[in-house]
Amino acid sequence: MPKPAGFHAAMTRALDGVAPDARLFNTCGSTNDEARSWARDGAPHLAVVAADEQTAGRGRRGRTWLATRGESLLASIVLRPELSVERWTILPLLVGVAVVRAIESRTKVIAELKWPNDVLVDGRKLAGILLEAEPPTFAIAGIGLNASQTHFDEKIKATSLAREGAVRLDRADLLAGILTELPLVLAEPVRSLDEYRKRCVTLGMHVEVRGSDATVSSGIAGRVQDDGTLWLIDGDGRESVVTAGDVTQMRPWFGPRFWE
Ligand code: BTN
Repeated sequence: MPKPAGFHAAMTRALDGVAPDARLFNTCGSTNDEARSWARDGAPHLAVVAADEQTAGRGRRGRTWLATRGESLLASIVLRPELSVERWTILPLLVGVAVVRAIESRTKVIAELKWPNDVLVDGRKLAGILLEAEPPTFAIAGIGLNASQTHFDEKIKATSLAREGAVRLDRADLLAGILTELPLVLAEPVRSLDEYRKRCVTLGMHVEVRGSDATVSSGIAGRVQDDGTLWLIDGDGRESVVTAGDVTQMRPWFGPRFWE
């Protein structure tokens, strides 16, 4: 992990040739906010904003994203996907695939995806993705990835690359990896969504999902549909579809896969 003083130099070196443009901050409010205003001003596809520290980091569903300076990869990438707007609902999932691929190739840590796009190792959160879109013009993929933390409060069930024995702990190299994978994943959305399904640990589990309006759906997660939504079926055969939300509980289902 480069020292904070080396943050700009390491990022500049690593991003050369993989990002068309980059804005780097020792400290900013939220890289997603910086990227959004830059995108409104015309930042190109795969332009990236990265910070050593955020003072107003945001998570999904209005949560705060906290990270001690220098310990996490904090970055936002401008996307101008060629996907038709109706298919932008799968973008959060596709970004998850690119992040997990980059983690595996650069650090040898095997990570998994919890629907829609939490990056986990053995059930502990390694990275979060905040996808904010202004269709049809651009979307921002914000990535917060725990890198060198050695300790987490047990209550938050988190982990870091350091705790998972990563062979390299280089945030800049990881970001370059994500920027390398993203165009590949976006170029083959159908195949990438299939890869998502294979990497998604939520499928086949009995889950509880809290939707954006605080309603709770539960059932067995039977499918991730072509639009990225999660299809559930309960023991009485009642089906439901969740478009956005948090999987708050997940336990193995040992019964038959009666919905297939
Ligand atoms: C989640 O809730 O799991 C998503 C967390 C996303 C955090 C990242 S850190 C970089 C970018 N800037 C932000 O303000 N949020 C995202």
